[in-house]
Amino acid sequence: MLKTGKELLLDAQKNRYAVGAFNVNNMEIVQAIINAAEELNSPVVLQASQGGLGYAGVEYIASLGKLAGRNANVPVALHLDHGTDFKQIVQCIRHGFTSVMIDASKYPLEENIAYTKKVVEIAHAAGVTVEAELGKISGTEDDISVDERDATFTDPDEARYFVDETDVDYLAIAVGTAHGVYKGEPKLDYDRIKAIRQKVDAPLVLHGSSGVPAESLKKAIPLGICKINIDTDIRATFAQAVKEYLEDNPDQIDPRKILGPATEAMKRTIMDKMKIFGSNNRA
Ligand code: G3H
Ligand code: ZN
Repeated sequence: MLKTGKELLLDAQKNRYAVGAFNVNNMEIVQAIINAAEELNSPVVLQASQGGLGYAGVEYIASLGKLAGRNANVPVALHLDHGTDFKQIVQCIRHGFTSVMIDASKYPLEENIAYTKKVVEIAHAAGVTVEAELGKISGTEDDISVDERDATFTDPDEARYFVDETDVDYLAIAVGTAHGVYKGEPKLDYDRIKAIRQKVDAPLVLHGSSGVPAESLKKAIPLGICKINIDTDIRATFAQAVKEYLEDNPDQIDPRKILGPATEAMKRTIMDKMKIFGSNNRA
């Protein structure tokens, strides 16, 4: 079942769990995510970044995502992750994405609001729901990089103003996580999540969640985090599985034999995340 992001996240908010949003770049990752979701009876977000769309092509990703979503016996949203290009956002909506992110977080507040409003207007007209970002999350997610020195945490009052002004459906906040591999242990600002939630009704989104300890995520979810983005941990699992397989089978040339174990390994990583998020048996 293909659903909007909002439908998934409102149920998560009501029942105090989080939906995993996992980055997809090819068929094997889509299959790993959908198989994990079906095995655990969990709702799930398939998300593609601009880098992912550049690699596979928007038509391929949209076709894979729609097929997987329609055939799945769990609710699936197909989401554009960190969209910065208005034309590409429109293209995704046209190709059947059910959710899009406009990431104008690098701009000053009023400009971020103006860009977000424009996307909300066209997306809502097409029945698509929208994520925006306020505050700056450090690290690198595909082609978006924010230096540690430029990272800024989300201000709760600004968050309320931003959501009221834009009518955005869910909000990505900067509360101590970072994209990519962590150097030390990430420290989440739980008081800030709580303060934002007190001012904002929209479900909150946590980016850069790979490498964040399970206990930290479990603490953040009841405070208002309803969508948790994971990319790096899936990449690491994929790379490790392929390396191991080829070390053991150096003469293997069949892509199916090489990628099959990686798909299985990614599925297990994703299932572990879903259990941490509490989304199992919520479909
Ligand atoms: O938007 C995608 C996520 O924020 C992924 O972050 O690669 O650190 O898991 P991650
Ligand atoms: Zn992100």
